Amino acid sequence: LDGQGRRVFELTAKAGKHDFGSGRTADTWGFDGDYLGPTLRAAKGEQVLVNMHNSLGEATTVHWHGMHLPAAMDGGPHQPVAPGATWSPTWTIKQPAATLWYHPHPHGETARHVYRGLAGMFILDDPAAPVDLPDEYGVDDIPVIVQDKAFDGAALDEGRALLAGTGILGDTIAVNGTVAPFLDVTTSLVRLRVLNASNARPFNFRFADGRAFDWIGTDGGLLAAPVSASHVQLSPGERAEIVVGVRAGERVVLRSEEVDLGGNLVQDRFVGGKDRFDVLELRGAAVLRASVGVPPRLVEMERLDPSTAVTTRGFSLTSETINGSAMSMERVDVTATLGTTEIWEITNRDGAPHNFHVHDVQFQVLGADVVAWKDTVFATPGETVRIVLRFTDYADPSVPYMYHCHLMYHEDQGMMGQFVVV
Ligand code: C2O
Ligand code: CU
Ligand code: CU
Repeated sequence: LDGQGRRVFELTAKAGKHDFGSGRTADTWGFDGDYLGPTLRAAKGEQVLVNMHNSLGEATTVHWHGMHLPAAMDGGPHQPVAPGATWSPTWTIKQPAATLWYHPHPHGETARHVYRGLAGMFILDDPAAPVDLPDEYGVDDIPVIVQDKAFDGAALDEGRALLAGTGILGDTIAVNGTVAPFLDVTTSLVRLRVLNASNARPFNFRFADGRAFDWIGTDGGLLAAPVSASHVQLSPGERAEIVVGVRAGERVVLRSEEVDLGGNLVQDRFVGGKDRFDVLELRGAAVLRASVGVPPRLVEMERLDPSTAVTTRGFSLTSETINGSAMSMERVDVTATLGTTEIWEITNRDGAPHNFHVHDVQFQVLGADVVAWKDTVFATPGETVRIVLRFTDYADPSVPYMYHCHLMYHEDQGMMGQFVVV
């Protein structure tokens, strides 16, 4: 904290060389370190100040994915940080406890910058809504940043994007920048904050032995109550928090199985739907400290009421556009009114899977089995997803926020639009 009570973070984007383990070393980028960045953490009500210094040889940005904040602080393509410059956004945390993340968002270059390693987790706490969950960071509360990588000798292979039409699909999984990772578990329950920070690959996480776990959180925070689940699917940008039980001395592997992407067999194969990976091995210690069980109620979940929506807007996803237009930095596509609720109908009119991410807000998916805060939602070919969102706190007619497909190659190709809140 600084003299004014602000929580201050220093981040430097720079080039490095990262040892991924298992004999894999490559030229990479990182925030501070060689690859990825530190986990940032702040509490509801706190004012945050980040000094982001760019030591790269080209401009980049840093965007706070999932964060509710003024558009000028959002770190999208309108807030570039030139080489050698420092950008210092500041805002107040006005949202529930959640697992968010940060990554660059330079127009047309997001995929490359994230793939090289610029990304990190941003955890929010809510001291006023305490929940008895595993919360000892690095002990029983673990960030799990999952990315697929393609290595080409001593380099990351950035050249496979065009083949798949879906962006880079790697054949090697890294968790927190480590290939073939394991976690020494010392408690009977462990909480995993799983982030799909891949460029294009969807994952369908489950444990090798099929064991059930408690699914406790989504992109924008905790669920009202834990849901017993055996798998959880995440497309790029999405997060899930889960709590899993581990027995003394055992080893259990978190895997990604085939994903039903809703396309035809060939299409699904080309976008990674048929691939299987081991992701993370959990190794139970000989003696485990007993954790308290997951409470039956987690948080008060507000339900956004679609009947209060002032408008319904349609977003049609085709292979490189939204509503027929490629992204333009000069064009505002949507103007929303501060304090209002809207329904957005997102239709995937393409043969390939896409997802849809909205900056600034956490939305709810209409008709979902579980009411949850989301900022990124998957849409299979032909599917229409209806979301309800509410614009609060921040209006700025001159600075837009983004909405886009979070398959980063698509985003860079122009599957993105701009909205302002006035
Ligand atoms: Cu995670 Cu517009 O981004
Ligand atoms: Cu975002
Ligand atoms: Cu897409």
